[in-house]
Amino acid sequence: MIRIRIPATSANLGPGFDVLGMALDLFNEVEITPRRKADAANPAIEIEGEGAKTLPRNEKNIVWQAMKKVFACAGARRKGPYSFGDFQIRLVNRIPLASGLGSSAAAYLGGIMAANEITGRILSREDMLLMGVKLEGHPDNVVPALLGGLCISMVIDNEVKYVKLPVPAIKAVVCTPDFELVTEKTRKILPRHVPFAAATFNTSRVALFLSALMTKNFKLLSAGMEDRLHQPYREHLIPGMKKIIDVAMAAGAYGVALSGAGPSIVALCAPAKAKPVGIAMQNKWKQFNIASACFVLDADTQGARVISRR
Ligand code: HSE
Repeated sequence: MIRIRIPATSANLGPGFDVLGMALDLFNEVEITPRRKADAANPAIEIEGEGAKTLPRNEKNIVWQAMKKVFACAGARRKGPYSFGDFQIRLVNRIPLASGLGSSAAAYLGGIMAANEITGRILSREDMLLMGVKLEGHPDNVVPALLGGLCISMVIDNEVKYVKLPVPAIKAVVCTPDFELVTEKTRKILPRHVPFAAATFNTSRVALFLSALMTKNFKLLSAGMEDRLHQPYREHLIPGMKKIIDVAMAAGAYGVALSGAGPSIVALCAPAKAKPVGIAMQNKWKQFNIASACFVLDADTQGARVISRR
C-alpha cells in the first residue's frame, strides 16, 4: 500500500501568469493497494470528497491516466505492464474541482508519484516534473505542487526551469464560490495580443511581488498583486470579482488576486487579518447570491510526498 499526499496550489498570484505558483496546506490523498480477485466486482477507483459524484471511476480517471504513463516508461524493465483493475485506487479529494486551486495538477502528480513508487522510482524528480507539466499543460500549478513553497517556473526547450523560494509567514485566505470554471474555457477567452502598456505593467508587478515577499515589505503587495494580462478578461465569468477584491483589501489584506484561472480568489494577509478578510469576501459573494467556502491556509513547503507505505 502506498499513500501520497499532494498540496493545493494557487497559480498566477496576480501578475505572474503561467509562471508563479504557491503550494498551500490543503491536501488530496491518493492511496494505491494491489486489488484482490475477490474485489473484482467493485469499482477499481473509490472517490471520497470533492468529485465523488462526478469524477470517472473508469480508465478515464486522470490519476489512472498518469499512472499508466509511468508504467509505460517502466516498460519491460519491470514486472508490469500493469492494467487497469490491478490496483485499488482510493482518492480522498479535499481540493475543490475546477476552482483555481490546482486539483488536476494534484491528481496527475498523485498518479505519477504513486506509480513511480510502484515501479521502484524509475523517474527522477525532474522527470516527474516534466511528465506532470506535459499532462497538465502548465507548470505554475504542477511545480509548486511537487516541490512545495513559492515557485517561479517555465518550460524552456522541453525542460522545466524553476526556482523555489521560501515563503514568509503570511496567510493565504482562499474564497471559493460554489461554481466551477474549467481552465480550458478561461484560457480561450484570453486575447491573442495585449497592449504594450499591459505587458510592462505586469513585468513591474511581478518584480514588485517577489521583492515584497523576499524583503517582507508586505505593504507593496497591494500593487504587487495587480494584473492586466488575464484578470480583466476573465472578470465577466466571475460575478463580483472586482468587488470581492476590493472588500478583501478594505478588510486588511496585503494583496488579492484571482487564484489560477479562478473562480477562487486568494488574499495574502497577516494572520490576525485572515478571519475578517475571509468573512468580508464571503459576505460580498452572498450579495451576488453565490455561496462560497473559505479556507485559511499556510504555504506548504514540502510539496507532494509519500506519507505511508507498507
Ligand atoms: N496559469 C493558468 C491560467 C492556470 O491562468 O490559465 C494554472 O495553470
